[in-house]
Amino acid sequence: MRVPFVAANWKMHHTPSSARSFMQELGQKLSGSEADVVVFPPFPVIPAAAESRPEKVRLGAQNLHWEEKGAFTGEVSADMLLELGVEFVIIGHSERRQLFGETDEMINLKLKRALSAGLTPVLCIGETLKERQQGRTFDKLRFQLDADLSGVDVSRVIIAYEPIWAIGTGVNATPEQAQEAHSFIKEHLGQVRVIYGGSVKPSNCRELALMEDVDGFLVGGASLQTRSFYDIIQISEKAFKEKS
Ligand code: PGA
Repeated sequence: MRVPFVAANWKMHHTPSSARSFMQELGQKLSGSEADVVVFPPFPVIPAAAESRPEKVRLGAQNLHWEEKGAFTGEVSADMLLELGVEFVIIGHSERRQLFGETDEMINLKLKRALSAGLTPVLCIGETLKERQQGRTFDKLRFQLDADLSGVDVSRVIIAYEPIWAIGTGVNATPEQAQEAHSFIKEHLGQVRVIYGGSVKPSNCRELALMEDVDGFLVGGASLQTRSFYDIIQISEKAFKEKS
């Protein structure tokens, strides 16, 4: 049976103490759940999240550096994350690409480092509104997949399709738009898990989760409260049972 992969991208939100409360509340709700649930806290919040997480919740980081160690002030290595119990890492989020100048070359190096360290990368790709309006969505996805995954064992990577116009805007991709992009990604790469991100909420996740090639969600804003994050997990699980 297929189970959804439902991930919380906290971005620059939550402190160690609020993360502990979140995990305690989530643990009380999650007992019967079969979904793959992963929380991505900011770096300094990871230890508190690791200590307080329910067994079913696994941990990810939002970024890492591609070198093993060295003089890279402000950066974090794969080994540091592994020692804290981190199993996943988001790579190439559009905020990192747009606000912090991450290039496809850097993202490719980060993917290689994550895999060689034994972390599972969640690679984010997606088009801008302009690219969509100009009919260049698939060109953009193809370009990012080819550049970012060059020389990478794709079978070990999770892809997050995150149209940039849908992130934090309240406007999600329609189920049809998501399905079309996910099926394109799977045709291009072969069997990979493809999750959707961009304004996912309890009110829109059922329709998205029912789509054949939607394997789960990367949730930003709606993952900050236990209630809405848990609702997304539960609704997705139900939808997955219906479609499998
Ligand atoms: P959002 O963010 O759910 O707040 O749109 C998703 C993401 O950026 O991963």
